[in-house]
Amino acid sequence: MSLSKDKNWWRQAAIYQIYPRSFADTDGNGIGDLKGVTSKVDYLASLSLDAVWLSPFYPSALADGGYDVDDYRNVDPKLGTLADFDEMLAALHNAGIRVFVDIVPNHSSNLHQWFKDAIAAAPGSAERARYIFRDGRGANGEIPPTDWPSHFAPSAWTHESTWGGKHNQWYMHWFAPEQPDWNWDNPEVEADFLKTLKFWADRGVDGFRIDVAHALKKDLSEPLRMRATMEYDAPQNLDGTGILMDRNEVFEVYRTWRTLFNSYDPPRVAVAEANVHPSRLPLYASENTLGQSFDFRFIDAAFTAQNYKECVSQSLELAKKNNSSTTWTLGNHDQMRYATKLGLHPIVDRNDWLLSHGQSHPVDFEIGTRCSVAANLFILALPGCTYIYQGDELGIHEVADIPFDQVQDPLYLRNLKQAKGRDGSRVPLPWTRGGTNFGFGAGTPHLPQPKWFADFSVEAESGISGSPLEVFRKALKLRRELQCAEEITWHETTSEDVLHFSRPNGWNCITNFKASKYPMPAGEIILASSPLVNGKIAAGSTVWFKA
Ligand code: GLC
Repeated sequence: MSLSKDKNWWRQAAIYQIYPRSFADTDGNGIGDLKGVTSKVDYLASLSLDAVWLSPFYPSALADGGYDVDDYRNVDPKLGTLADFDEMLAALHNAGIRVFVDIVPNHSSNLHQWFKDAIAAAPGSAERARYIFRDGRGANGEIPPTDWPSHFAPSAWTHESTWGGKHNQWYMHWFAPEQPDWNWDNPEVEADFLKTLKFWADRGVDGFRIDVAHALKKDLSEPLRMRATMEYDAPQNLDGTGILMDRNEVFEVYRTWRTLFNSYDPPRVAVAEANVHPSRLPLYASENTLGQSFDFRFIDAAFTAQNYKECVSQSLELAKKNNSSTTWTLGNHDQMRYATKLGLHPIVDRNDWLLSHGQSHPVDFEIGTRCSVAANLFILALPGCTYIYQGDELGIHEVADIPFDQVQDPLYLRNLKQAKGRDGSRVPLPWTRGGTNFGFGAGTPHLPQPKWFADFSVEAESGISGSPLEVFRKALKLRRELQCAEEITWHETTSEDVLHFSRPNGWNCITNFKASKYPMPAGEIILASSPLVNGKIAAGSTVWFKA
């Protein structure tokens, strides 16, 4: 299959996120690799995907799962080589699947050559000016320069002596200390990222997922302001004048990137990971900036008809504002598996549950998986672009019982162990029911796989009518055939727990969230997430039909 020639291919695409280290391991080092992705191209093609997005595969010491990048224009030797990348890209393109890579522009890693140069250089040097170094407060500079918080540690400042620096300065990091923030006021930094984008675009990469797209520009004017707020709805963040996030200046960067993207044929596309107030998302998704932005509204919306309808209506309205299309996403590598969210009683504190290794409350695997497949069919029928996280097509659950001494996530390691973090959705995928490491690879997987993975393996679900995988396969294939104008019409239902909408070509989607069995409207059923019961739609089911 060849790549579509449509320049707007991304508007209503199905895009699958690969977390490469946990996808497939061909060299037996326990870590997935690029050859692993190549070895699964047939599987990816069987899902009728328009594109895959690869989380970082760059050289990294994995202080934050690869989002700590040592070298933006290379492949981590543990995952392969640039030649492996080219081979993978060609194989995916041959199968009609486009490729996004992850760009991490807010911070590098502490092992990036430029950070090492900065630590070795003196205050005021050009090397230090690429990052955010400042003197501390207090008589001996022993107090961090400001009170700015970090996502992964109490303070956003770490003393340079941590890495052997001898000049008594502090540097800023929004995430882990191993992730020093770039100084985006420095033209050298801007030029280097243009070089990186060009490097991958020239290799044939079709799009970019932009990590923490809202954080690049900070207010670094002196004296540094205090009391930065991470609340995305704080007034200063709503008008783009906050200290650390979502500042209006960031769009200047993205306008420059857009000029580069548009110099390619077809233009390269991008999607922003911007954790900002929804009213600010159109600025990232504008056709003059990144073109598309994740809308994370569904990720934490309770599985109810009312919430889902609200999310859809608000999101579609926003997308119209910038001539972009909407994005829908239920999971990613930062989230608890969606099936588990829906299988846990809504009042359960997920963090506490994870800290208890999943022992504090039962999770209903069956309900969770069933509802998550129903939720996926719901979003797949909506106009716009859908992002699917690897394994969600299997209805797989969170691995809650990773022993603490094997947890890798800095969220756990750095946050005084108050949160267990995100490893539970990053456990290497089960390909086979049995065999070594469920077919992931010969070496011990970098995160432990539970026994119950057998039932959620690709092998266990393949060819089984009604399994999550087969429902996804059908849904994605049909979706491609049925795709039409980006509009929906809501239809009345006789239950407040049931939503029914249709697309302009007569493609109907009805979801019963939790009502007792709901009568199936007249029409030709084309797909059901779970079988009808005496002609009725059971709770936790979605049906697609032609009216
Ligand atoms: C993004 C990534 C997340 C990472 C963070 C810092 O939010 O999705 O995994 O920890 O950025 O790079």
